[in-house]
Amino acid sequence: MNRDYTAESYDALASEYDMRWKGYIENTHQKLLGRLETRPSDRLLDISAGTGYLAKYLQQHEWEFDEFVLNDISSEMLDKAQEKVGPDGRYGYTEYRAEQMGFESNSFDQVISMNAFHNYLDQGAVIREVYRVLKPGGMFYLLDWNKTGLFRVVNYWIDKLTSETIQTISVDEVEELLRSYHFNIKHKETWHYRYWNLFFICATKPA
Ligand SMILES: C[S@@+](CC[C@H](N)C(=O)[O-])C[C@H]1O[C@@H](n2cnc3c(N)ncnc32)[C@H](O)[C@@H]1O
Repeated sequence: MNRDYTAESYDALASEYDMRWKGYIENTHQKLLGRLETRPSDRLLDISAGTGYLAKYLQQHEWEFDEFVLNDISSEMLDKAQEKVGPDGRYGYTEYRAEQMGFESNSFDQVISMNAFHNYLDQGAVIREVYRVLKPGGMFYLLDWNKTGLFRVVNYWIDKLTSETIQTISVDEVEELLRSYHFNIKHKETWHYRYWNLFFICATKPA
């Protein structure tokens, strides 16, 4: 693949990401944490884990699970996550593009994508890949920007000002895409945080 501007941009941002986006990260993760349910036998995969806020939170609050894989295309973001989590055998780290991951089919109980869907070059490929790696009955938690209303203008300027891939779509378009890849929608909500319009969808792979 050619030069990856998104990975480069996050590599450069990694050391200040947590401080700069603290309020936003907490707001969005509270939505996820209100719905996420884990069992002691669960294998979890965060396909764009960034600096590992979620992984660290589950560790600190002693959530039960068997394994948590943090995946991201930015090695600097993953290094921050690894520092934060420290030595803990339940956590693993991979650097696949979410569009094509080297995991076995039907191998994860829960897959998470937080604040990254707008960055994916091929969103359909990511959804197909998540469907492939989820076990039947497994849950996909997807949270990101919702390109509606005035946020369209904000999104336009974000796209102009960053070198990252920005391909934000609306929650209705995301839902349609998920359904076209055979996911069942279990929960869908939208809200605002500062100037962002956001959505959160929980979708299952049929058992
Ligand atoms: C805004 S950060 C979100 C990080 C974390 N999930 C959070 O909410 O704090 C977006 C992350 O998505 C990653 N990313 C972007 N495109 C990706 C892709 N195609 N595959 C995997 N990760 C990707 C970036 O490297 C970055 O770490």
